[in-house]
Amino acid sequence: MNKFLAFVTTLCMAASCSKKIVSPTAVTELQNPSNALSLYNNFCVRCHGDGGYSGKAPNLAKFAGDKNDAVQIIQSGEGRMPAFKDRLTRIEIDALADYVLSLK
Ligand code: HEC
Repeated sequence: MNKFLAFVTTLCMAASCSKKIVSPTAVTELQNPSNALSLYNNFCVRCHGDGGYSGKAPNLAKFAGDKNDAVQIIQSGEGRMPAFKDRLTRIEIDALADYVLSLK
């Protein structure tokens, strides 16, 4: 049990550290679609499924909003969709919004 807790704590620390360091390199990397995809696979795939269309949550390829709408929903959540503003940086949310729109 203690080992498990230590593992979880380490994971959380690793995640929060990497979130706070937003270097110019990180910005460039996040403009690369493959990084948006890895964010998607970490935070979104369990509900929206591979490619945005194969999960229990709505098919993201059918998302009717614009980029601002997508950013808003990812930041603040909607219905059963959780808010991500405490877990993702604004840059990451931006990259995910672009990714969602790219699925259309
Ligand atoms: C716990 C499950 C869950 C996770 C994780 C999740 N979503 Fe959602 N998402 C939902 C549900 C459920 C809805 C429908 C919300 C509603 O209207 O009730 C939704 C709606 C959306 C919508 C609006 C779709 C539309 O057509 O209106 C977008 C865009 C979206 N999610 C993007 C994301 C992104 C990007 C991530 C990862 C950062 C993510 N979601 C993570 C469950 C989830």
